[in-house]
Amino acid sequence: MRKTRALVLVHSTLVPPDSLQGSTEKEIDEWRTEYDVISHLKAQGHEVMPLGLSDSLSELRRAIIDWKPHVVFNLLEEFDGIVTYDQHVVAFLELMHQPYTGCNPRGMLLSRDKVLSKQLLSYHRVPTPQFMVFARGKKPRIPKKLRFPLFVKSSTEDASLGIAHASVVADEKQLSERIAFIHEQTHSDALVEEYIEGRELYVGVMGNDRLKVLPVWEMTFGSLPENLPAIATRKVKWDRSYQQKYGITTAAAENLPDGTVARLEQLSKRIFRALHLTGYARMDFRLRADGELFVLEANANPNISAAEDFAQSALTGGMSYNHLLQRIMQLGANYPAAWRAVEP
Ligand SMILES: Nc1ncnc2c1ncn2[C@@H]1O[C@H](COP(=O)(O)OP(=O)(O)O)[C@@H](O)[C@H]1O
Ligand SMILES: [Mg+2]
Repeated sequence: MRKTRALVLVHSTLVPPDSLQGSTEKEIDEWRTEYDVISHLKAQGHEVMPLGLSDSLSELRRAIIDWKPHVVFNLLEEFDGIVTYDQHVVAFLELMHQPYTGCNPRGMLLSRDKVLSKQLLSYHRVPTPQFMVFARGKKPRIPKKLRFPLFVKSSTEDASLGIAHASVVADEKQLSERIAFIHEQTHSDALVEEYIEGRELYVGVMGNDRLKVLPVWEMTFGSLPENLPAIATRKVKWDRSYQQKYGITTAAAENLPDGTVARLEQLSKRIFRALHLTGYARMDFRLRADGELFVLEANANPNISAAEDFAQSALTGGMSYNHLLQRIMQLGANYPAAWRAVEP
């Protein structure tokens, strides 16, 4: 295997130490993905340089010019504290004619905007929950005759930020309160969707042109109290002791109705293409009791720590973690960026 010079881009506070020794579980959780990627690439014999970014691109530009990485391994999830700005860093890499892993700027922009995604997906006949948008800075005009329960979330935030049990609203009062909460807390427009009760399914896709779909993954909500809606709140996703308390787990989805896997694969590929995604992505779905599927969102550059859904699903599909990282770098190196067509 060719030795790769990989510049690993991470948030400045998430540059991991060389070893796990001396760090608490809580500290490790912060930079687990960064640690997993960097330590595995090193163990494979690649030349690896981690680079922490916060609010300046000078160091990145210098490192690209001086060190000439074959690929930038992009693990950024924000820039200067703004989640939607990671796409601009990727755009900068393209301007530098620098190959990088994961999604291109256009795919990041489209998939990060949940409203724009839904509009595009409806054109491509991909079912998503019906929705309305309540813009920040405007007094919400709540239409009469709504069908409750509804689900209220940020139009751009991810990682379940702003998502709690109170996101599911049962009447107009709860709806207005939650819209105001999203406006204030996330500084973004509020997306209000019909609430889809059902199974929670995740589907990973890898590729640029030819796409590979990973085994369907499912989050099960264990013994969460009956009065709480079974949704992936921030706590459900990230709080280890909460997960253990209620037996919340993710694993390969079993006993799906006939035809559901094929339909998920077909929809996931269609979503990947419709949103101009490249590299690797994960689609979040809900499967209703009547068998109807709805996509909730597409995640460009999903979490790829070794123990998380994407890597575990790849492993179930026969792809080891080392192989997964290798494939992600290869896809990055092969992505046909516009500059390649004009460079002699
Ligand atoms: N319309 C909906 N109906 C039912 N549950 C939903 C709906 N939208 C979101 N959820 C729940 O909230 C979780 C997070 O929503 P999602 O749109 O995926 O945002 P995030 O970007 O924070 O992951 C989902 O995984 C799901 O459990
Ligand atoms: Mg999600």
